[in-house]
Amino acid sequence: MSKHRIVLLPGDGIGPEVVEAGRRIVEATGLPVEWITRQIGVSAVEKFGDALPEDVVSEIKACGVALKGPTTTPIGTGHVSANVRLRQELELFANVRPVKTVPGLETPYGAVDLVVVRENTESLYAGLENVVAPGVVTSIKVITDRASRRIAHFAFEYARQWGRKRVTAVHKANIMKLADGLFLSCAEEEAAAYAGEVVFDDILVDALAMRLVKKASDFDILLLENLYGDIVSDLAAGLIGGLGLAPGGNYGADCAVFEAIHGSAPDIAGQGIANPIAVILSAAMMCHHLGDVTAYRRIRKSVATISQEQKDKLTPDLGGKGSTVGLTEAIVEEVRRRVKDRLDE
Ligand code: NAI
Repeated sequence: MSKHRIVLLPGDGIGPEVVEAGRRIVEATGLPVEWITRQIGVSAVEKFGDALPEDVVSEIKACGVALKGPTTTPIGTGHVSANVRLRQELELFANVRPVKTVPGLETPYGAVDLVVVRENTESLYAGLENVVAPGVVTSIKVITDRASRRIAHFAFEYARQWGRKRVTAVHKANIMKLADGLFLSCAEEEAAAYAGEVVFDDILVDALAMRLVKKASDFDILLLENLYGDIVSDLAAGLIGGLGLAPGGNYGADCAVFEAIHGSAPDIAGQGIANPIAVILSAAMMCHHLGDVTAYRRIRKSVATISQEQKDKLTPDLGGKGSTVGLTEAIVEEVRRRVKDRLDE
């Protein structure tokens, strides 16, 4: 079988530690892979003077797939986020963040099983900021018909592919009548094509925040513009036990980049205690994208088995005393057992 060529982007902070876990898990599934490792983020600024060197973008375009660690973005000054640039330059318009309770790691918020579908290229992330007068700054929110229809279409197709029953558009169209109004009307128009198959409704983003905390099981697929999607997905991750458990994938027409929701966590970088599960589950999503559904299932089931049966291996964010390497090793062993015993086929 020919090898999948996958670009590996370790990133900054805890990135290299958790991305190595993702790489090891994929190898354990037996998926044939040639890894192409490239630097982005702060380390790339230091070495090449650019957080996202041009050859990284062209390499991902050539391979079609990347597994990425988080990158650090300076606050207020400094370089533009490598993430934002990557998503814009590769037109990775859809950010998918499944948030599902991990067996053995139940929280007071009940069983959560929802998917955040976030528009990834515009809104306030367009980067259009200006000082219009001393002490006065504008930051322009861009919402287009094209991008709103494209992400709504993606969300409904995702529902169809994954057997999901409901798409909820999240907005603030009572205040941003034009911008969020356009986003909502595009979703409504797209929904018409799926009537009878996928239920469509909508909710104000502030009301959603409260309802998620009170009863997240009310929701299935959440469809959001860029900024709301970013904030709501962190909130949703908190409902299942934290950022260390929430994976993600960025999809475009030609490429996909898989990464955890979390950032570079400078407060724990280098300590060997970062939770690798979010990147491991992102790697599972990548296997699914590459057509290996068995590898996807094996990884997910292995995470569930270890989180239920080997609590001593859990990292401190989950209340354990384990390490990144120790937890990874346990999950790798479980994946190997499932491959050897031909489980989940
Ligand atoms: P963060 O997600 O890095 O950390 C928030 C909190 O969660 C910290 O206490 C951290 O220790 C904890 N945490 C995050 N991931 C964890 C894991 N795997 N295991 C255990 N604990 C974990 O968010 P923060 O601090 O706001 O951002 C730090 C940097 O990351 C910033 O420069 C930001 O721009 C960048 N960032 C990058 C992202 C990306 O590359 N996709 C996404 C979000 C933030």
